[in-house]
Amino acid sequence: MAGKSFLETAVTVNTRKVAEQTFISTFRSPRISALVEAGQFVMASFPGTIDPLLPRAFSVCDVEDDTLSLLYVAVGRGTRKISELMPGAELILNGPLGNGFPERESGRKIWVAVGGSGAAILPILSRSAKRVGSEVRFFYGARTMSQLVPFKEATNIAHATDDGSAGFHGNVVGLLKQELRRDTPEMLFGCGPTPMLVSMQKEFGTKIPTYLSVETPMACGMGLCQGCPIKKSDSVDYYLACKDGPVFRSTEIEFEVKP
Ligand SMILES: Cc1cc2nc3c(=O)[nH]c(=O)nc-3n(C[C@H](O)[C@H](O)[C@H](O)COP(=O)(O)OP(=O)(O)OC[C@H]3O[C@@H](n4cnc5c(N)ncnc54)[C@H](O)[C@@H]3O)c2cc1C
Ligand code: FES
Repeated sequence: MAGKSFLETAVTVNTRKVAEQTFISTFRSPRISALVEAGQFVMASFPGTIDPLLPRAFSVCDVEDDTLSLLYVAVGRGTRKISELMPGAELILNGPLGNGFPERESGRKIWVAVGGSGAAILPILSRSAKRVGSEVRFFYGARTMSQLVPFKEATNIAHATDDGSAGFHGNVVGLLKQELRRDTPEMLFGCGPTPMLVSMQKEFGTKIPTYLSVETPMACGMGLCQGCPIKKSDSVDYYLACKDGPVFRSTEIEFEVKP
């Protein structure tokens, strides 16, 4: 859960293209990689420049020895710049931030739905779930096969594509609904685009303990700027996604955007 964090100058080890527009970059970052838990994130900024002005949030994808990796879809200024970092180039990381997923509590039967860049959590979650003895199944959705990252870390993955080019023909929530006719997990986790989380909350939120990692835009990542509000379901108040989340029990929050 949220605890100590560091501002660390990380050093690029390598960057691999792993799917359409999708990259995994590995950084030497000993202080952060020693502490990070599945579902926590870092804020990344570039040394010696204000371009881009604000740091970008990234879930930590995996940790190995003193390195950590980030998985990202190169959609804009920040992600394109990270994908161009050469080995040895520096990136300022602040982390680990946020609370992470609650699978550390005990060995549980957990289903995890990921979509788009939300797939970043899959390797670290797979690793930590194995460590605590949880039985995990992953459900991974994308628009088309070329956007699916072939993860070697997790074996128990079912795919869904909108165009039917791989796995279930439809979105990942449709795949989950199909599988729920056969079996039920003790907990359900979701990480992906907001419409996917909204749909998971609506379909499963009151039936299965469901935890969602929200992708609210963030400027500081540390509860300082008040820029990442997410409405509490039982009051007019707001949580701060960076400090109180980014993982919330789905019954605790209300999405104010429509799918
Ligand atoms: C807690 C948290 C964890 C996150 N983890 C990850 C992660 O692991 N990997 C990752 O790639 N991103 C992640 N994000 C999103 C990330 O912080 C950036 O917003 C995103 O990568 C785009 O940054 P950029 O600078 O490249 O794009 P920007 O220059 O900020 O945006 C360029 C354009 O792309 C659009 N855009 C932004 N994000 C997306 C998107 N995901 N898909 C399509 N269009 C988009 C914007 O609306 C804008 O029009 C996370 C966000 C949060 C809050
Ligand atoms: S990003 Fe600044 S308060 Fe959450």
